[in-house]
Amino acid sequence: MTAPEPTPVADPTWKRDFPYEASAEEDVTRREFARYLVAGAGAMAAGNVGLAIWTQLRTINTGEPRAITPLAAVPIGEPHLFRYPTDADPAILVRLNDTDVVGFSQKCTHLGCVVFYEAEEGRWHCPCHEGNFEASTGAVISGPPTRPLGRIEVEVRDDGAIWALGARP
Ligand code: FES
Repeated sequence: MTAPEPTPVADPTWKRDFPYEASAEEDVTRREFARYLVAGAGAMAAGNVGLAIWTQLRTINTGEPRAITPLAAVPIGEPHLFRYPTDADPAILVRLNDTDVVGFSQKCTHLGCVVFYEAEEGRWHCPCHEGNFEASTGAVISGPPTRPLGRIEVEVRDDGAIWALGARP
């Protein structure tokens, strides 16, 4: 004598509309999760590589060495405007004393307004949002900028001229 067959229980309505097994559902979820994980890790790795390249490029000097102006033509404490490394890049230098000359990009590192030299304050001043930078280093003194002014390496050569050697953003 055999045992009676159990009476089949009808599937609930939701199971008829969505006929997936719980185990199969889990497999799909796991696979998708792994896919997102790999895609996310790949995107983060690519982002890190891009960031490293960008950071490296930012530290490379740009511009060819070029004579800017005779030292004798720049009075102490007076700024001198020029363009460097290209004609589209406003730059400014100031002769701090008999021998020391410093040069910077004239673009404020906040939103790109031009900075002006204020000899009596010993600073570069950006009038747009009252940003201030230290005269000899370009370091931020106050205001919204978070980065120092872009530095332009300058030197006084034997020919008596001030030379720009390269720009550092
Ligand atoms: S642009 Fe110079 S402080 Fe904002």
